[in-house]
Amino acid sequence: MITLSDVYIIGAGETKFGELWDKSLRNLAVEAGLKAIENAGIYSKDIDIIYGANGLAGVINKQENIGALIADFSGLSEEGIPAIRIEASTASGAAAVHEAYLAIKSGEYNVAVVGGVEKMTDIHGHEINEVMSSILDREWESFYGATPASMAALIARKYMKDFNIEKEALSMISVNDHENASRNPDAQYRNKISLKQAMESVMVADPLTLMDCSPISDGAAAIVLASEDFVKRNKKDGVKILASAIAEDYLDVGSRKSIYTFNSTKKAARLAFDRAGIKSDDVSFAEIHDSFSIYGLLALEDLGFADKGNAKDLVYDEIKLSGRIPLNPSGGLKAKGDPYGAVGVGQFVEAYLQLMEKAGDRQVKSPRYGLLHNMAGTGATSVVHILGD
Ligand code: COA
Repeated sequence: MITLSDVYIIGAGETKFGELWDKSLRNLAVEAGLKAIENAGIYSKDIDIIYGANGLAGVINKQENIGALIADFSGLSEEGIPAIRIEASTASGAAAVHEAYLAIKSGEYNVAVVGGVEKMTDIHGHEINEVMSSILDREWESFYGATPASMAALIARKYMKDFNIEKEALSMISVNDHENASRNPDAQYRNKISLKQAMESVMVADPLTLMDCSPISDGAAAIVLASEDFVKRNKKDGVKILASAIAEDYLDVGSRKSIYTFNSTKKAARLAFDRAGIKSDDVSFAEIHDSFSIYGLLALEDLGFADKGNAKDLVYDEIKLSGRIPLNPSGGLKAKGDPYGAVGVGQFVEAYLQLMEKAGDRQVKSPRYGLLHNMAGTGATSVVHILGD
């Protein structure tokens, strides 16, 4: 009989997220990777494989072959350690963790380093907007002028109309993110914002204002995953991955039955809760993919924390660090930042710190289970992980 291994996170590290003009793609990737390796207390001889998550370097930085680049600059090429890139748009990070998780679970490898990196601020204005829009369906959406922001705005308008939701509910997601990011030294925007500031910021795509949008970011994050056998042999402390699930929906939003229900998120969440054997009420905190504030509300619903149309009831108190379901203790995509390939891995860095109770003054009280939700674009791909004891 084949015995599958449990998988643990034994180390984590990240760069600051932001406009990091003085650091190249490879500098960022290696900075995060070395922090994670050092944190795990392992050596290059321990590493079996590297997964590099990246969304857009081929277009923005004219650099493909990210796996080899990272291995080379880390000094690991000499050892012949395999290094491959995983691409799933803005969900590349969690998709890479999923692949590493399966590789260790199967017994093939004992230790995998998963890094995510993106450097987006080297191009500006319409150029970066066009590149970001390449994650949509080119022939059916972006060719006609659709962008991630305009798609989110369309979804927000329909949702607000059908459920009679005020803009305030969306803005509260951003207020909460900025509040938490003010306690996170790695976050891009550490300024707290008031509800008034969020509501009155400049319009981007009606009804979404500047404070409803994640920024354009550079950054990298990395974690070290290890098998149960490695953890026991080397007496490592770690956080267990209880479930790892991916699901897809139509890429083209117009083909979906409902534009404000992300079926990929619903399915990945259902699989993850089943595999972990816990319910949404058991979750101690969640890091969710709120590239736009509307997606914060939709994630709360599609992940099972509220019924459709009712996430508005959670956004004042329940999502605070001290609330029933602390949301984005890291500051989320809105305020921590959104470097595509790094975002999903960055969520793991936060969850690792939270579950090891090392998250400083943004620590959630006695957390037991963390839920991570990393999504691609308008919800075509969703990856849900549950971590805990
Ligand atoms: N949140 C808070 N502040 C932001 C911000 C954001 N999202 N984006 C920019 N700012 C700030 C900048 O720091 C700058 O402040 P300063 O004047 O004090 O230095 C100011 O706003 C203007 O910045 P600038 O870079 O000129 O903004 P911009 O108008 O070029 O871009 C957005 C703003 C919202 C259009 C851009 O961040 C964006 O496109 N976000 C969405 C990203 C996206 O689509 N992601 C895809 C997810 S699937």
